[in-house]
Amino acid sequence: MDVMQAIKTRRSVRAYSSKPIPTDVMQRMRQALRYAPSACNIQPWHFILVTDSDLRRKVAQASRDQMWMADAPVIVVACAYPEHAYKYMGGYGNSADLDAAIALDHLTLAAVVEGLGTCWIGAFSEPQVKKLLKVPEQVKIVAMTPLGYPAEKNLIHPLEEGKRKSEADIFSIDYYPQHS
Ligand SMILES: Cc1cc2nc3c(=O)[nH]c(=O)nc-3n(C[C@H](O)[C@H](O)[C@H](O)COP(=O)(O)O)c2cc1C
Repeated sequence: MDVMQAIKTRRSVRAYSSKPIPTDVMQRMRQALRYAPSACNIQPWHFILVTDSDLRRKVAQASRDQMWMADAPVIVVACAYPEHAYKYMGGYGNSADLDAAIALDHLTLAAVVEGLGTCWIGAFSEPQVKKLLKVPEQVKIVAMTPLGYPAEKNLIHPLEEGKRKSEADIFSIDYYPQHS
């Protein structure tokens, strides 16, 4: 599968089988995270691989009760170190969130190639997840994803998943669109 196929095939998976992920596959998933680019190559991130079933259930509860997350054998929690990250994006911005998000996106695409499913999770209580996973105050939890083999019957979200804005809506050449 080439990159474009992986990009187009990836969909949010919200139903998982408990089938374990083989060690070699998990190793490739770790490399997908590890090889991601980051501003100044600072790599201001840490990834917690939550495998304990009770902990997975508690993390899912702290994620607005998205309990299907806990069925996957692993929940990947992307943490970032804002204090260490590049702080001058565009002259002022901290790159920590962006760096961690790029890494997590690498994972979502690499997972497709292995037949694994993922789903970005942004709806979670950071204080609650931090407490559960013993994450220090200064470390930010950016996002999470369950990682596992899709259950046979994947639940399709009622929103129009997969639908994308038209090219005309999101691209312009040379200049930002000028509306008179
Ligand atoms: C930053 C971010 C946060 C998200 N948080 C959630 C979430 O908490 N729960 C969920 O079910 N989906 C979540 N999603 C998945 C989006 O709903 C999904 O990516 C979007 O509808 C497009 O569908 P697709 O991933 O199948 O292409 C999130 C996606 C992103 C990028």
